Amino acid sequence: MDKLIIKGDGAISGTLKISGAKNSALPILAASLLADGPVHIGNLPHLNDITTMITLLRCMGVEITLNEKLSVEIDPRSVNELTAPYELVKTMRASILVLGPLLARHGVANVSFPGGCAIGSRPVDIHLKGLEAMGAKISIDGGFIRARCNGRLKGANITMEKVTVGATENLLMAAVLAKGTTVLHNAAREPEIVDLAEFLLAMGAQIEGIGTGTLRVHGVSRLNSCAFTVMPDRIETGTFLAAGAAARGKVRMTHTRADTLDAVLLKFEEAGAHISTGDSWIELDMKGNRPKAVSFRTAPYPAFPTDIQSQFMAMNAVAEGKATVVETIFENRLVQVHELNRMGANIVLEGNTAIVTGVESLKGAPVMASDLRASASLVIAGMVAKGTTIVDRIYHIDRGYECIEEKLQQLGANIRRVAG
Ligand code: UD1
Repeated sequence: MDKLIIKGDGAISGTLKISGAKNSALPILAASLLADGPVHIGNLPHLNDITTMITLLRCMGVEITLNEKLSVEIDPRSVNELTAPYELVKTMRASILVLGPLLARHGVANVSFPGGCAIGSRPVDIHLKGLEAMGAKISIDGGFIRARCNGRLKGANITMEKVTVGATENLLMAAVLAKGTTVLHNAAREPEIVDLAEFLLAMGAQIEGIGTGTLRVHGVSRLNSCAFTVMPDRIETGTFLAAGAAARGKVRMTHTRADTLDAVLLKFEEAGAHISTGDSWIELDMKGNRPKAVSFRTAPYPAFPTDIQSQFMAMNAVAEGKATVVETIFENRLVQVHELNRMGANIVLEGNTAIVTGVESLKGAPVMASDLRASASLVIAGMVAKGTTIVDRIYHIDRGYECIEEKLQQLGANIRRVAG
C-alpha cells in the first residue's frame, strides 16, 4: 500500500492548476447512459473514482474511447447489461448514480445495494422513494436494488425529505426522459448539480429552476449527442487553499471558479487571509501570519461544504484561538480528530461538534487515512508539522485528488510517495 512521506514546516507558495470536479464528472458520466448517440466529455480528472465509473459503464457494454489525457468519447447505444455489480459498487458508492439513467432509458436497472462507509450509514431511501413516485417497481433481492418500469417513467411531484446531492441527481436524470413533468422540491443546489443539469440541457433535456431548490423537468422522448466540459473542482481548490493558509503562505489556484466557493472564501478571510479573485483564479495570501481559528457548521450548498470541513480543521489546529466546528451532514465525519490529536493538536469531540484550540505547532507522526477528505487534512497537518509525517492508506486520497504529491511539490512542499 502506498504511503506519503511529508517533511513539514517548510514555506508554501506558488501556483496550481485545478482539475475537473470529481463530483460533477461522476454523475455526468452516468448521465451519458441517457443519450441516443455518442457524447464527448472533457476536463475529466485523472482519479481512481473516475476509472471505476468508466469500468462500470464498460461492464454494461458502453463503448468508451479515452482521448488525450482528459477527455472521453462515450457511445451508450451498445448497452447490453443493465447491472452494476457488487465488486464495483462496494469500491465506489457513487455507482448508485447509474440507477436513474438505466431505468429511464432501458426500463430496468439492477444495482448492488451500497453499504455504509467510513463517514456514516449513507442510506439511499430518498433515491428509491422518488423513483417509485415516478412509477418504478423496486425490490431488494440478493443484495441488489432491482428496479423496473412499464414503458417510460411518469412525471411526478416529489418532495425530498432531506437535501441530498445524490438523490437530486438520480431523480433529475430519471425525470429528463419521463413522460410529463416532474417537480423536485427541496432539491440540492450544489454547483455540481448545476453542471449535471447543463450537461442534460446540452443533450436536449428541458429543465427549469437550475441552481434553485425546485427543479421542474419536462420529460423528452430522447436525448442527443453533445460535447461538454466538466467544471473545476471546488473541493480540490478549497483543500489547497487551506494548505496555503495553514502554512502562512501565498498560493494561487488557476482554472477554478471563485463563485462556487463563496462561503469558504469568507471563512478564509475571517482566518486572516487576503483573498483576491479573477475570472478563473483565486489567490490566498497570509502575508506570513498565523491563521486565526474560525468556527463554522457544515450544511448543504451554498453554506459551508462538509467536503472541506476536515481541511479547515487542520488549519484551525495550528491557528490562533479557539473554534467550534459542527458537522451536520454525515454522522461520522470528524474521524480525523483522533489522528490530528496524535500529531499534537488540541481538539475535543462532543458528538457532532469539535472544539479546536489552536497550538503553535504540530509534530510529525505516522497517521492513517480513513476517508478521502479526512486524509487530505492529515496531509495539510503533515505539511505544517515539525518533523516527518507518514500518511498510510492513501488509496483514499487517490480516489479524489489527482497526483496530490506532485501538486503540493509545486507549492514547495517536501512530500513524496513510497510504495508500501
Ligand atoms: C455527495 C458527494 C459527497 C458530499 C455529499 C454532501 C458525490 C459523488 N459525493 O455525496 O462528496 O460529501 O454529497 O455534500 O457527489 N441521505 C439519506 N437518504 C438518501 C440519500 C442521502 O438519508 O436517500 C442522507 C445522507 O446519509 C447524508 C445526507 O443525506 O446524511 C446528504 O447525503 P448526500 O447529499 O446524498 O451525499 P452523497 O450524494 O452520497
